[in-house]
Amino acid sequence: MWIKKVRGWELKESAATPEDVFRNRRRFLAGAAGAIIAPTLLACEKEADADAEVAAADPSAGLYPVPRNDRYKLDRELTPEADATSYNNYYEFGTSKNIVKAAQALPIRPWAVTIDGMVEKPLTLDIDDLLKQMPLEERLYRHRCVEAWSMAVPWSGFPLASLVALAKPTSDAKFLRFESFMMPEVAEGQSEPWYPWPYIEGVTLAEATNDLAFMVTGIYGKPAPKQNGAPLRLALPWKYGFKSAKGIQRITFTDKQPVGLWEAIQGAEYGFYANVNPAFAHPRWSQASERLLGSGERVDTQIYNGYGEFVAGLYPDQNDRRYFY
Ligand code: MTE
Repeated sequence: MWIKKVRGWELKESAATPEDVFRNRRRFLAGAAGAIIAPTLLACEKEADADAEVAAADPSAGLYPVPRNDRYKLDRELTPEADATSYNNYYEFGTSKNIVKAAQALPIRPWAVTIDGMVEKPLTLDIDDLLKQMPLEERLYRHRCVEAWSMAVPWSGFPLASLVALAKPTSDAKFLRFESFMMPEVAEGQSEPWYPWPYIEGVTLAEATNDLAFMVTGIYGKPAPKQNGAPLRLALPWKYGFKSAKGIQRITFTDKQPVGLWEAIQGAEYGFYANVNPAFAHPRWSQASERLLGSGERVDTQIYNGYGEFVAGLYPDQNDRRYFY
């Protein structure tokens, strides 16, 4: 993973839609119906058109927005939607942060999710059938990339624990292995031979059933766009962002600790646990602080990305480097 120094992609905050405006947009448009349309409304209409396009392309669009779970509080402003959805790590579509266009080639319907390995009954589910069975909610989470940038976003989705309950793991299962799609015909990066595709990540069963572990299907009250991992990705906010695999198609319950793509390439820099900790520097840069997407402000990084009250009990020794890289 690289740190990109040139930030020409970044949208000025003044150009981004504030979240409260975004949330009130539909009400605003309804109220304006019948009134003389002022030129300033044109921008809103364009957005409404874009929403209609998303709805046509994604049959889950009608499910959103979902009720917010207020248990998960932020200590900072939400990142403007335009920033969180335009600065992305998705190596299947290239090594830059500017992969939005390339990612649109990913077909996200039909999309089958296979649950297999050490479970009572392996199954393959269509994503829309899975969505119907899961308790959808919205959570405001921080996200801290190992590259020392971060964002705070409203994810929609369901607790990973609900999927574990559906899968009914056997008593031998100790880990979950997440496998992302493999489609080199649409994802150019997957033709690069130096990455061991597909993207793999893993967690322990105890981590998977922790309240914080979340399967993401939406963001900012809408289905997630492709660049953010549609139609199914992880959000593990106490871990560095590379653990939160995107474009997931297979979840395998296993007794073997999975080896993630980054761990396979560079195990000394990207480990299995990868819990956020400002005290343990990455071998090539400090993890003491982070740059907020959007404002560009630098803030101190917190152990477990500020989620210690939920997860500290999972890790017996806070001085054991093994848990923090
Ligand atoms: N998942 C897949 N399949 N491929 C990737 O390259 N990058 C990871 C993670 N999940 C990645 C992935 C990294 S390094 C980060 S920081 C987050 O996705 C970025 O998520 P975002 O683009 O939604 O901010």
